[in-house]
Amino acid sequence: MARTAAQYVCQECGAAQPKWSGRCDACGAWNTLIEEAPAEAAPKGLGGKRGRAIDFAPLDGPATPTPRRVTGIGEFDRVTGGGLVAGSALLVGGDPGIGKSTLLLQVVAALAGEARCAYVSGEEAIDQIRLRAQRLGLSGSSVALAAATSVRDIAAALDAADGPDVVVIDSIQTLYVDTLDSAPGTVAQVRTSAQELIRLAKRRGFVVMMVGHVTKEGMIAGPRVLEHMVDTVLYFEGERSHQFRILRAVKNRFGATDEIGVFEMTDAGLVQVANPSALFLAEREGEVAGASVFAGMEGSRPVLVEIQSLIAPSALATPRRAVVGWDSGRLAMILAVLEARCGVAMGGADVFLNVAGGLRIGEPAADLAVAAALVSAESGRPLPAETVVFGEIGLGGEVRAVARADARLKEAAKLGFTRAIVPARPGGAAGIDIAEVAHVAELLALLREPAVDRPQAWRAGRG
Ligand code: TYD
Ligand code: MG
Repeated sequence: MARTAAQYVCQECGAAQPKWSGRCDACGAWNTLIEEAPAEAAPKGLGGKRGRAIDFAPLDGPATPTPRRVTGIGEFDRVTGGGLVAGSALLVGGDPGIGKSTLLLQVVAALAGEARCAYVSGEEAIDQIRLRAQRLGLSGSSVALAAATSVRDIAAALDAADGPDVVVIDSIQTLYVDTLDSAPGTVAQVRTSAQELIRLAKRRGFVVMMVGHVTKEGMIAGPRVLEHMVDTVLYFEGERSHQFRILRAVKNRFGATDEIGVFEMTDAGLVQVANPSALFLAEREGEVAGASVFAGMEGSRPVLVEIQSLIAPSALATPRRAVVGWDSGRLAMILAVLEARCGVAMGGADVFLNVAGGLRIGEPAADLAVAAALVSAESGRPLPAETVVFGEIGLGGEVRAVARADARLKEAAKLGFTRAIVPARPGGAAGIDIAEVAHVAELLALLREPAVDRPQAWRAGRG
């Protein structure tokens, strides 16, 4: 690679300039110029030459399923869509300290029996990685370790006939290519380093798993800039103070997205959690005002989780609205619907909402469970015992049906729940009494009077 002059490309309009400046000359946008390695000098356009015509194939021909490397760590395999695909590139993003290095070391160690695995660290010395392996009880696995940061050197080692089948790069922000002047961790370095490694992985057919820290500037030199380049993007999330960790697929060319894998960080590394509902509900305390249990779906899997709310008189001119694990805009909407459609005014109070266990819910199906928690907190009356709730709320206060109601109810029944507050006509599940609510006003009526006084509200479970 000869040292070539870099160019600065506007991320808004794509104009290239030889020098950096704060403002793009072409479109006038500020702070959008980013150093990029110049593309290899290519002739302009097609140069008048005629190409060899490509062949078209019918849609219904034979298709060989992609072979996969299964790690045996079930939670990881499900999130990747059934194992790692040869020649693919994965990005594992997450906050520093959340457990990315631990997870990937466990993954390569699990694969070491059947594939040649390498772990390249730019952050830790080999001794440190060995210490971690000892702690995890993985010292016996045959994983090749290296501490390196130069992409040229790393590529030279990987580009060999007896090179590895699975490579971990920890992290992409520590690597650099020597053709660029910018420091490791900048957009240009991160992107060019990843490009080199991905190209090599495709050519050599190895799996490359790159760690990307979510930086404070998240969008800039974080994993975001790589998302479109890789085949699979996994995010490892959780509260550092909690032991739960959630691996979430946000992009996957070889499987479904929105699958999650749940792990627990222990003294001996990450342990799979086969039954996340039981875990998220583990610390639930009997009947408490302000708490409801939401029967949610995470990918293909039903997950029950507790939603807690607290309503306190506010001394502030603008009362506080604090949300953990859910969308704050959605909370504002539900508060507005409760006030405008049912006259439940919480405008003068501080409202806190928390999804227990560190899970982040994205489904609108949680609306009804949130409303139930809020109404319960406001009235000081707990929900009927062993009740799950789900349903989407519209601006008119109407409660809408949600997908996979049966799967949600079945999971609830499995965990010993006996009642469900759900949108109209959701089907049913054995052993669960159903209360159908078509409007939030019906939810209020149901929660403000104890369920025992209104037996007609509940439809007995089937079977
Ligand atoms: P690490 O994998 O280094 O995080 P990342 O690569 O995402 O920065 O793990 C970070 C934390 O996990 C660290 O603070 C210690 C803790 N930990 C355990 O609790 N148990 C263990 O077995 C290991 C290896 C780490
Ligand atoms: Mg690390």
